Amino acid sequence: MKANDADHLPDGETAGKESAGSDAAAGEIAAAETKLGSIGVNWQLKAVAPVALTLLAGLMLFVLATVSFRDPERHAVLVVAGAGAIAICAVLIFVLAWFVQRPMVELQEKIARVGGGDLGVSVSFDKRKDEIGELGRNFNHMVDQLRQSREEIERLHRTQMSRAEHFATLGELAAGLAHEIRNPLAGIAGVVEIIGRDLPATSPARAVVKDVRVEIAQINHILTDLLQTARPHAPAIRRSDLNTTVEHAVMLARQQALSKPIEIALKKNPALTEIEHDSDQIHQVLLNLLLNAIQAIEGTGRITVDIETRGQSAAIIVSDNGRGIPPEHLPNIFRPFYTTKGNGTGLGLSLARRIVEEHHGRIEVTSTVGKGSKFVVTLPLARVAIQTAS
Ligand SMILES: Nc1ncnc2c1ncn2[C@@H]1O[C@H](COP(=O)(O)OP(=O)(O)OP(=O)(O)O)[C@@H](O)[C@H]1O
Ligand SMILES: [Mg+2]
Repeated sequence: MKANDADHLPDGETAGKESAGSDAAAGEIAAAETKLGSIGVNWQLKAVAPVALTLLAGLMLFVLATVSFRDPERHAVLVVAGAGAIAICAVLIFVLAWFVQRPMVELQEKIARVGGGDLGVSVSFDKRKDEIGELGRNFNHMVDQLRQSREEIERLHRTQMSRAEHFATLGELAAGLAHEIRNPLAGIAGVVEIIGRDLPATSPARAVVKDVRVEIAQINHILTDLLQTARPHAPAIRRSDLNTTVEHAVMLARQQALSKPIEIALKKNPALTEIEHDSDQIHQVLLNLLLNAIQAIEGTGRITVDIETRGQSAAIIVSDNGRGIPPEHLPNIFRPFYTTKGNGTGLGLSLARRIVEEHHGRIEVTSTVGKGSKFVVTLPLARVAIQTAS
């Protein structure tokens, strides 16, 4: 019975219930003991019964064989033979109880403690040089392994937690810094704009001002990514055409790749016009993937974007024939700040994954060095599917 149940009862009743509770507990212990006892009796019965029956049969034969004996002598012989049979059975029971039942009961008790989470247990009969000793050694080894695994898991958990805290603090710091830099940057951009406008058309300083504007735009882009990573918005999910979202991202990517011999092919899917998603966020995911694909291609290349239906999900597949990702780098690419590019922030994919996961979707990658990479973004078709997924 639960302690708080008793709290609601009047005093006498509480006492009664408590004693009933302890009676029940005692009953449970007694039942467990009876169970243990019955195991013991079963053990002894099963092992001793055939021996006892054999001895009984022998005794019968003995009785028949001694028919010709005279009575006081015959009586004495039969008593000695009977006592011998009983002694053999008793010794057998004792031997079984001591060498078999005792370790089994200990094992059962230790297994129950392991089941309750106590991994500091070990059995005492592991030194025996027989099968039961072997069983004990295996049990102790198993518990030892379990304890080591649990300690390892706890250690990893602690490391992860402190790392998460560390990243959270860093994220806060970075977000605060990004926020503080953005305001003066906007001021600088405005001043540069005015200076650029006031310069004569033939002034060589115009090119410099243009470069400064490009650099400011790049810094602004980095700060925006950083802020979104550190302080993400919940997706504003609406039913809209997934083809339009993807097409918009492809258009922007084509503009970015204008000066390069890169073809970007889009295969739309007319069935996916009513997909519940945050079009701005998914657009951002695709743009990140497409920019990565463009940056991975040296010289001529081709990027394909396919939109498919896969069961209850929509899949957007972005493939490129760029340099590919070495297998040892693959586990890192979704980590924040992981980049192999001189001017990258390493936030693109981590942001993309966060957005996709907030849509209850998945983002997966396969890649072959020298051949190219394939990113698959899977999104549930509808909120019903999203709820079922969660
Ligand atoms: N399509 C791809 N082909 C080859 N490598 C890729 C591809 N996409 C991502 N990567 C690798 O994954 C890394 C992380 O990508 P991510 O988009 O997160 O950051 P980034 O592109 O380096 O920087 P940012 O996106 O902030 O400009 C890249 O630096 C690159 O090494
Ligand atoms: Mg990127």
